[in-house]
Formats: sequence, C-alpha cells, structure tokens
Amino acid sequence: MEVSMRRAIMFLLCAAATHTPAQISLPSVEPKSSVADGTVADQPSLRREGYIGDKACESCHEEKVRSFHSTAHFLTSRMPNQGSILGKFTPDGNLLKTSNPDLFFRMDAKGSDFFQTAVEGIPPYTTSRTEKFGLVIGSGNKGQTYLYWKGDELLQLPVSYWTEVGWVNSPGYRDGVANFERPIIPRCLECHATYSEALPPPPNRYRPAGVVVGITCEKCHGPGESHVQHYRSKSAASANSAILNPAHFSRGRQMDLCAWCHAGHGTALQPWFSYEPGEQLDKYIDLPHPDPDAPIDVHGSQLELLRKSHCFESSAMTCITCHDVHAPQHNLAEFSQRCLGCHSVRSCGVFPKRGQEIASNCIDCHMPLQETNLIVFDLNGKKVRPRVRNHWIKVYSFPAEQK
Ligand code: HEC
Ligand code: HEC
Ligand code: HEC
Ligand code: HEC
Ligand code: HEC
Ligand code: HEC
Ligand code: HEC
Repeated sequence: MEVSMRRAIMFLLCAAATHTPAQISLPSVEPKSSVADGTVADQPSLRREGYIGDKACESCHEEKVRSFHSTAHFLTSRMPNQGSILGKFTPDGNLLKTSNPDLFFRMDAKGSDFFQTAVEGIPPYTTSRTEKFGLVIGSGNKGQTYLYWKGDELLQLPVSYWTEVGWVNSPGYRDGVANFERPIIPRCLECHATYSEALPPPPNRYRPAGVVVGITCEKCHGPGESHVQHYRSKSAASANSAILNPAHFSRGRQMDLCAWCHAGHGTALQPWFSYEPGEQLDKYIDLPHPDPDAPIDVHGSQLELLRKSHCFESSAMTCITCHDVHAPQHNLAEFSQRCLGCHSVRSCGVFPKRGQEIASNCIDCHMPLQETNLIVFDLNGKKVRPRVRNHWIKVYSFPAEQK
C-alpha cells in the first residue's frame, strides 16, 4: 500500500488503523422536514430501534437542547451549506495555490451545492477534476475537513479549512499534489457523527442517507423512545426514567463513555457503532496502550494524559468533574473553580509570590496548550501544527504561554 494511502487511514488520531468493516444490518429512511443549517434536522433520519432524535427532547429539556446545539460535539459533522462550510467561496478567497505552480484548487458554490476543483497545467492546456462537498467534519473550533461521495464510497477532499489560516491542504497531504483517493473508514464517523450505516466492503462504503450527522443526545444517553413515552404518560410514577444518565455510571463506565472518542483510534473487537454507553468499552474496542514512558501527543489523548495526573490517581475525578458537555465551556476562570473544589489557592507553590490573582487561571500553568504532531498542515512549505490543551495536570517547568 502506498504511503499516502496508509496515512489516509491513519489520519489524525489513529495509532493502529483497522479495516474491520461495520456490518450492521438496519432500518429504513424516514424523510424529515427541512431547515437549512446543515445539522441533523435537515437530513433524512435513520430509524434505529428506539432512537428518536434531538427534536423529541426539546419539549421538556428545551434549555439543554438549545445550549447543546451550540457545542462542538453537536456541530462536529454537518451537511454542507453556506453556514456549515467555514471557507470562502467568493472570488477574493476561493483559491488555494500550492507549491506546484501548475496546480491550484478552486472552491465554487452553485445554488445549494459546493465543489472543489483541482486545476492542473498551464493555460490553455489545463485539466481539472471536480468533486462535490458531501459531508463537513469538524466544528471549526480548530478546523474542518470535507468528504465527498463516489457512489456509496466516502472519500476525503484534498482541501480542508483551518480556522487560523483559511483553506489549506488537508492534514498530512503533500503540498502540490492533487489527491482525491483517501477512503473514510467507519471509526472516523463513529467519533464524529451519531450513526452511519455501513455497507459490505470496502470499508468506506455507506448508505448516503444513513449517516446521522452531529453527536446528538442519544449518542451518550442511548435510545430515548421509552423515556419520552414514560414522561408523556400521566402516570409517570415509577422511579425508572428509562434512559441512561452517565452521572449514575460507575467511575470506570463514566471514563469509558468519554474514552470511546477521546483515547485514540483503537482496534475493533465488535463492529464499529455497536458500543452503547454504560457498557464496558474494552469489550468493543482495543484502545492503544501507550508505553508509560513514551511521550503522548496532546491531540485526542485526553484520557491517557489525565490518567497520568496525581489529581486523577488520588481522587475519584472523571472527565465530568470539570466538563459539562451540554454547553460550550471556554472560561478558564470557571475551570479554575473546579480545581479549587479540591485544592486551596494556598496549596500552590507560587501563591506566596503571586497571591490571589492565580485563582482565576490555574489552567495555563498546570494544563498548558501544546502543539500536536498528529495534525500537521503543509502550508507554503511551512509545517503548521495546532495547539491542544494538555490534560496531564502537573507542575510544568516552562512559562505559561508556550510558543
Ligand atoms: C415528556 C417530557 C420529556 C421528554 C420529551 C424528554 N424527557 Fe428527559 N426527562 C423528563 C423528566 C420529567 C425527567 C426527570 C426530571 C429531570 O431530571 O429533569 C427527565 C430526565 C432525563 C434524564 C435524567 C434521567 C435520570 O435517570 O437521571 C435524561 C438523561 C434525559 N431526561 C434525557 C432525555 C433525552 C435525551 C430526551 C430526548 C430523546 C428526553 N430526555 C426527552 C422529561 C422528558
Ligand atoms: C457527550 C455525551 C453527552 C451528550 C451528547 C448529551 N449528554 Fe446529557 N449527560 C451526559 C453526562 C455525562 C451526564 C451526567 C453529568 C451531567 O449532568 O453533566 C448527562 C446528564 C444529563 C441529564 C441529567 C442531569 C441534568 O442536568 O438534568 C439530562 C436531562 C441530559 N443529560 C439531557 C441531555 C440532552 C437533552 C441532550 C441533547 C440535547 C444531552 N443530554 C446530550 C452526557 C451527554
Ligand atoms: C462519539 C464520540 C464522542 C464522545 C462519546 C465524547 N466526545 Fe468529546 N468530542 C468528540 C469530538 C469529535 C470532538 C471534537 C468536535 C469538533 O470540534 O469538531 C469532541 C470535543 C470535546 C470537547 C471540546 C469542546 C470544545 O468546545 O472545544 C470536550 C471538552 C469534550 N469533547 C469532552 C467530552 C467528555 C467530557 C465526554 C464524556 C462525557 C465526551 N467528550 C464524549 C467526540 C466525542
Ligand atoms: C477516536 C475518535 C476520533 C477519530 C477516529 C477521528 N477523530 Fe477527529 N477528532 C476527535 C476528537 C476527540 C477531536 C477534538 C479533540 C482534540 O483535538 O483532541 C477531533 C478533532 C478533529 C477535527 C478538528 C475539529 C475542530 O474544529 O477543532 C477535525 C477536522 C477532525 N477531527 C477530522 C477527523 C476526520 C476526517 C477523521 C477520520 C478520517 C477523524 N477526525 C477521526 C476524535 C476522532
Ligand atoms: C477531584 C479533586 C481534584 C481536582 C478537581 C483537581 N485536583 Fe489536583 N490533585 C488532587 C489530589 C488528590 C492530588 C494529589 C495530592 C496533592 O498533591 O494534594 C492532586 C495533585 C495536584 C498537583 C500536584 C501534581 C504532581 O505532579 O504532584 C497539582 C499541580 C494539581 N493537583 C493541580 C490541579 C489543578 C490545576 C486542577 C484544576 C485544573 C486540579 N488540580 C484539580 C485532586 C484534585
Ligand atoms: C481538572 C479539570 C479537567 C478534567 C478532569 C478534564 N478536563 Fe478537559 N479541559 C479542561 C480545561 C481547563 C480545558 C481547556 C478549555 C479551553 O481552553 O477552552 C479542557 C479542554 C478539553 C478539550 C479540548 C481540547 C483542546 O485543546 O481543543 C477536550 C477534547 C477535553 N477537554 C476532553 C476531556 C476529557 C475526554 C476528559 C476526561 C478524560 C477531560 N477533558 C477531563 C479541564 C479538564
Ligand atoms: C503562574 C503559574 C501558576 C499558576 C497560575 C498556578 N500555579 Fe500551581 N504551581 C505552579 C508552580 C511553578 C508550582 C511549583 C511550585 C514549587 O514547587 O514551589 C505549583 C505548584 C502547585 C501545587 C503543588 C504541587 C506539589 O508540589 O505538590 C498545587 C496543588 C497547585 N500548584 C495548584 C494550583 C491551583 C489550584 C492553581 C489555581 C488556583 C494554581 N496552582 C495556579 C504554577 C502555577
């Protein structure tokens, strides 16, 4: 297998790529009404036994649904449209030049469709290849990559979008080469979408209408149908809410829920998409077992890094000690309050010198932002690496603001 091809499969987090196809035989499509924001509401929904979609939660959990729908989890995959694709289609910003003077990419919007075209050669002797945006992956917090359909095969487009930069070569792609051949394996969608219905091999075949975009409520709470029936019926007396609440899971199962997508790629032991929250993850996915002494990249490894922390070892901490996944959270002073749930400001060695001011930002000193080596863009010959929060909570010997 060609190197670029292998890299494709390993794109991003992937320690050990697997080719296990997810063969889950399933349901029928039920078209829904359309509002065009690219999120789950405007695509035909896939009916899985007991799954009813986020709309069904609104009437009783309105505030949670509203705030959740502005989180990176919900926005992490969308149908392509003006709102969901962050790159520019206007003439002042729709070209990506490459280090190869004979190759550039052009992004075009035509009606409600969006296209990437690779143009090669010197005019008038140019050839071109055009593919249509089929799916948008990434909230755009850091960036997005785009997928296209070749029949029922899903592949990656050569041009991505990086929020600090604009259009860029897709991560790991060689600058100056037009590569349309990277297949998208199910694990990518397992982490970035609610569901996809895989077809028989090759492993990048899916039923196009069977991809449920965005991470939705039921991804973490399991099927909601009985729960809704329960609370709609007048006699909702029973103590059983008929839905999963991870707050009631054991510490191990709580960690498993987040580890499903935040602890590396892993190898499938069961078909992808068969894990359900509350179950033991290692029966479904063999996650990477990093050598305890080997350096761990900050991207996608929050679990392994947190596990190395004394905070984690010496308390009952889980991811939800600090994170409420139902709303966007970026306020470092609020996060610092979580630290102060267990520590006093005075326990910090720099308190005598700095005093109370440190109370508003424990984070930049003890969980610094660091560059990842797993997402690398080739930009005009320069390597660009985004920065990710290191979840190994400890004393770092360098200043807070890293370069
Ligand atoms: C008909 C009203 C209604 C609908 C619709 C509804 N819920 Fe609930 N839900 C409730 C009530 C009432 C409770 C209990 C009080 C509370 O925690 O707010 C509850 C509690 C929960 C809990 C906590 C359960 C526990 O055991 O602690 C979760 C999780 C939950 N709902 C998720 C959902 C999801 C996801 C949906 C959409 C699929 C949904 N709900 C739709 C009324 C509803
Ligand atoms: C990424 C996983 C995840 C997603 C997606 C998710 N939740 Fe939760 N939910 C949790 C966890 C973890 C808890 C327990 C800790 C907590 O309360 O934050 C929880 C708790 C709850 C509770 C009970 C506690 C409370 O605050 O009342 C309700 C109700 C709930 N979720 C509703 C929803 C609804 C509605 C959606 C979709 C709009 C949703 N959740 C999406 C992980 C998730
Ligand atoms: C189904 C996979 C999946 C599960 C389960 C999951 N996450 Fe995520 N999470 C993601 C993906 C994918 C992103 C990146 C989304 C993006 O920016 O496109 C993300 C992003 C995040 C972020 C960054 C949000 C931001 O605004 O920058 C936090 C924090 C987070 N997850 C915490 C959790 C916690 C805590 C849990 C467990 C309760 C959890 N996640 C469970 C897939 C998942
Ligand atoms: C094991 C789960 C997992 C797999 C597999 C995975 N990702 Fe991610 N991805 C994440 C998480 C978690 C984040 C955000 C947190 C971080 O940076 O550590 C993320 C971040 C991203 C982002 C940046 C989003 C933003 O705006 O910050 C893009 C784009 C992305 N992934 C695309 C992909 C594509 C395309 C694939 C498949 C070829 C893929 N990922 C495979 C879990 C996964
Ligand atoms: C659930 C409780 C809890 C939370 C929340 C918590 N810690 Fe800790 N932390 C501990 C315990 C317990 C230890 C080990 C005993 C000690 O040193 O006090 C520890 C140790 C530490 C250490 C020493 C690390 C080392 O390598 O020896 C630092 C620094 C620290 N915590 C900072 C933080 C910061 C910053 C936050 C917030 C981002 C935080 N902690 C959140 C419980 C917690
Ligand atoms: C002690 C508190 C704490 C715990 C525990 C914790 N986090 Fe975080 N996490 C943070 C802080 C602080 C940030 C930075 C938020 C920001 O800068 O916007 C963060 C950011 C993130 C991000 C975004 C990373 C990035 O740089 O884009 C992800 C993903 C995430 N956490 C996932 C997790 C997961 C999964 C767990 C459990 C394995 C976890 N966190 C446990 C405090 C915590
Ligand atoms: C300006 C950077 C900075 C800030 C802000 C900061 N710390 Fe520290 N912290 C340090 C350094 C450096 C040490 C080691 C000091 C020493 O060894 O004398 C330390 C030590 C600690 C320790 C003790 C570690 C040990 O040796 O056991 C704890 C606990 C801790 N910090 C918690 C916190 C908490 C909680 C906050 C927020 C309220 C915070 N720190 C804010 C830099 C910082």
